[in-house]
Amino acid sequence: MQIYALALEKGGVGKTCLAVNLAAAFSRLNLRVLVIDLDAQAHASYWLGIVASSIRPEDSVLGVLNGRAVVDCVRTTAEGVDVLPAHAALASLPVQLATAPNSGLFVLQDALGKLCLPTPRYDVVICDLAPARGPVLATALAAATRCITPVQPEDLVMRALQALVESVGQAQRVNPQLRGMSIIRNRYAPRSAGDQIYDQLLREAYRTQLLKTIIPVRAALRDSAGLQQSIFRYNGPDANEVRNVFLDLVEELIVLDGAA
Ligand SMILES: Nc1ncnc2c1ncn2[C@@H]1O[C@H](COP(=O)(O)OP(=O)(O)OP(=O)(O)O)[C@@H](O)[C@H]1O
Ligand SMILES: [Mg+2]
Repeated sequence: MQIYALALEKGGVGKTCLAVNLAAAFSRLNLRVLVIDLDAQAHASYWLGIVASSIRPEDSVLGVLNGRAVVDCVRTTAEGVDVLPAHAALASLPVQLATAPNSGLFVLQDALGKLCLPTPRYDVVICDLAPARGPVLATALAAATRCITPVQPEDLVMRALQALVESVGQAQRVNPQLRGMSIIRNRYAPRSAGDQIYDQLLREAYRTQLLKTIIPVRAALRDSAGLQQSIFRYNGPDANEVRNVFLDLVEELIVLDGAA
C-alpha cells in the first residue's frame, strides 16, 4: 500500500488539487484509492462531493485518529475513490496530539496498519495536509511511504520547500518506509522568463527529487473544484490535456514506487 502525504507549509500551491486529481487518476487505473483529508478547511472532502459540515466529528478522520476503524468512517464518492472526510474540529488536532502518547506520532500509522490486515484494503492512500508544519504533518509523515509537494515558481515556495526537506528528514528517522520527497511543478508556464529562473534553481537544488511531470496553469483545474468534480469527470475545455498530465504523473509514481 502506497501512502502519499501531500504537503507544503505555503498555502494555495495546489496540494488539494493534486490530492483529488491524483486520486482520481489512480482510480482510473482500477487501483483502490483512499483520500484522507487532514485539513480543517475540508477542501478535499468538498471537492470530492462531501459536505463536511454535515458529518459528526467522530465520523470524520478525527474518529479514526481517536481509535475508530477507518472502514467505519470512510465515504464512497462519485470519483470511485473513498474519502475519510475532514471536520472543522481538526483545527484543534495539534493540541490533542500534543497530549497523546508519543505526541500522537503513530496514530495514523497504526490506523493504516490495521487496514492491511489480513490484506491491504487499498492500493493507494493520499493524505491532503493543511499548509502548516507541526504535529499533524509529523503524524502524516510517520505513516507515509512518500511525501509529494507541489511547487510554484516563487521565492516563498522555495523557502517552504527547505522547511519540508527538514521535516521529511526528521520523519525518516522514525519511519523507515518513508522513501523521501518528490517535487511536482504546478501552475507552470514554461515559456515565462520568471518561471525559467526558478526552474533552474529547483533543478540545481533538488535534481533527484524533481518529478518530470509538470502541471500547467489551466482554468479547468480551478473550475472543476467548484463543480466538485475531478478532472476525469469535468468536461470543460482542456480537460483532456490535464487528464493526460495526471495519468503521466501516476505512471511516473508507479515506476518509482510500484502500483500497490
Ligand atoms: N495548475 C493549476 N491551474 C489552475 N488552477 C489551479 C492549479 N492548481 C491549483 N489550482 C487552483 O488553485 C487554488 C488553490 O489550490 P489548492 O486548494 O489545491 O491549494 P492548496 O495547496 O491545497 O491550498 P491550502 O494550502 O490552502 O490547502 C484552487 O482553486 C485550485 O483549483
Ligand atoms: Mg488544500
